Amino acid sequence: MPGMGHGRAKSLRAAALLAFVVLSILVSLLISSLQQFGARKTHFSTDAIPGDVEDSEPLRGALISQLQQRRREIIPLLLTHNHNDNDDGENRQPEEDLQSLDPMLDYSLWDEITLGSRKAHLDEMDCESLVDMRAVEVLGSGYTKVVVKVNLSGGQPVALKLVNEQGIDMGKCVEDFKDPKGCRELVSSKLQKEIVLLQRLKHPNVIKLRGHCAAGAGGQRGGGVTVILEQGNPLQMIQLLQSPWEDRFRVCLDLVRLLHFLSRSPLGSVALLDFQPRQFVTVSGALKLTDLDDASAAETPCRTDADCVLQFPHRNFTVPCSARGVCEGLNEKRNIYNAYRYFFTYLLPHQAPPGLTHLVDHIMNSTGDLKADINQTLEVFERILLLYKSGLHLDNLPASLTEDYTVMRGMGTSGSVEYRCWPSYSQQGCVLSVHSATEAAHICNSHSQCNSFSLTGQKTWTGRLLASFRSGFSHLVPDGVSEVYVKKINVPGNSMV
Ligand SMILES: Nc1ncnc2c1ncn2[C@@H]1O[C@H](COP(=O)(O)OP(=O)(O)O)[C@@H](O)[C@H]1O
Ligand SMILES: *[C@@H]1O[C@H](CO)[C@@H](O)[C@H](O)[C@H]1NC(C)=O
Ligand SMILES: *[C@@H]1O[C@H](CO)[C@@H](O)[C@H](O)[C@H]1NC(C)=O
Ligand SMILES: *[C@@H]1O[C@H](CO)[C@@H](O)[C@H](O)[C@H]1NC(C)=O
Ligand SMILES: *[C@@H]1O[C@H](CO)[C@@H](O)[C@H](O)[C@H]1NC(C)=O
Ligand SMILES: [Mg+2]
Repeated sequence: MPGMGHGRAKSLRAAALLAFVVLSILVSLLISSLQQFGARKTHFSTDAIPGDVEDSEPLRGALISQLQQRRREIIPLLLTHNHNDNDDGENRQPEEDLQSLDPMLDYSLWDEITLGSRKAHLDEMDCESLVDMRAVEVLGSGYTKVVVKVNLSGGQPVALKLVNEQGIDMGKCVEDFKDPKGCRELVSSKLQKEIVLLQRLKHPNVIKLRGHCAAGAGGQRGGGVTVILEQGNPLQMIQLLQSPWEDRFRVCLDLVRLLHFLSRSPLGSVALLDFQPRQFVTVSGALKLTDLDDASAAETPCRTDADCVLQFPHRNFTVPCSARGVCEGLNEKRNIYNAYRYFFTYLLPHQAPPGLTHLVDHIMNSTGDLKADINQTLEVFERILLLYKSGLHLDNLPASLTEDYTVMRGMGTSGSVEYRCWPSYSQQGCVLSVHSATEAAHICNSHSQCNSFSLTGQKTWTGRLLASFRSGFSHLVPDGVSEVYVKKINVPGNSMV
């Protein structure tokens, strides 16, 4: 780092370490105040010093061998990075590539990652970015990791992912090896793997890696690693089930775009082995994968098709064994079926627009029976999006529907008499997305309470208009962008309030 004195770097590091201690305590307080998912009795901050306990040598040996095993799993991911990535402008030294060709002998590449000295990009955050941060709340936790919402000193909100000291992974390890510090290092290897995968698998539907901080072997957190991520909202399936179809469709479309990318990623075809809604978050409504430590690019070797069975609780599938002796498309198919059983079945068919149900049914059928690959699936999803955006799925709506309404442009309403509809974008009244005033008129005609609606110029993620429907209002007020449509009195079957 040019222009930065050694002393300043040192004091920053000290401050960063202090920040970690404070954060660890904060996190543990936050966690114990919550009824934790995956919680278990822990041995927080009882760091054992290596070589302290004489008769634990066999245990230490076993722990170290596990640690080495984990490292061996990560190094191939780094190697692929060296070989394929031509677009990030990094100039690696030739000897670095030579060393990394023998992962069994040389861990220097690994050490660079764990010590945080390798920056993939110049704008990446590191330990110094965490000085003076403020912990806000725990966002979520799982068997392995805990995620905390923090504000950095500049006010920027980020999510920090750390080892879950009270998670099942740590608990099991400490029970087996009686070495909290060694275990933190072992569990941290999952965070290391995630850092590497996040660097390798950059995509709009994968959470953005902002940086990381590794305290290093001598650090206060004892090998603990902190991943700095863009902040999201944990996916709430229950909430999503009550959302408009348009938002549920977005989650499924984003998932399919992600799976399309994963099927031909820089690492090969990647399967998500722990495929659950809780491994995803949303960022401004977009779905993003956040838990990658169970992502695998491994191919399944086979001799016959019978070696290539995909097992699910209610369904088994067999994929072909290729001439090269690997199960063809197994990872892609596993992902598609999981998308079907965890996402599509809950989110997609329910309240799909009538003009699109045949395509939705087609998706449900082809993914549920694994008859379509991810390309074909994505194609149908994009077609649905196109039809929905353009309003072409509404081709049977006569434009004359709006003739039953008096339109007032540049006007809004006040003193509205609201009614509720479902699923509404607003809690108080009935707010739905429409393609046009014609579709809004069609909806208003189908609601017995509806006598008027407004288009305010607000749009949803697809660009459709938000329309608010109501029974009546007391007066009109000037409002530059809005339009108010009021039902004409003499329309048959209409009753004014
Ligand atoms: N960037 C993020 N923003 C908000 N919440 C997150 C973020 N990353 C993860 N989470 C939440 O934290 C939980 C635990 O993270 P995860 O990586 O899944 O840990 P584990 O491997 O232990 O399951 C997730 O289920 C999710 O709800
Ligand atoms: C974090 O920042 C947000 C705005 O970005 C602010 O509303 C919130 O109060 C801050 N929280 C803390 C604990 O500083
Ligand atoms: C799937 O295969 C397993 C192992 O062969 C078998 O035990 C199970 O009954 C099968 N399940 C279904 C739903 O066919
Ligand atoms: C798909 O359609 C076929 C034929 O209509 C039907 O037999 C099958 O059960 C459907 N599969 C799913 C998953 O809906
Ligand atoms: C899927 O699409 C990608 C490009 O998006 C293409 O390279 C690939 O060959 C397609 N795969 C199949 C099986 O059609
Ligand atoms: Mg998880």
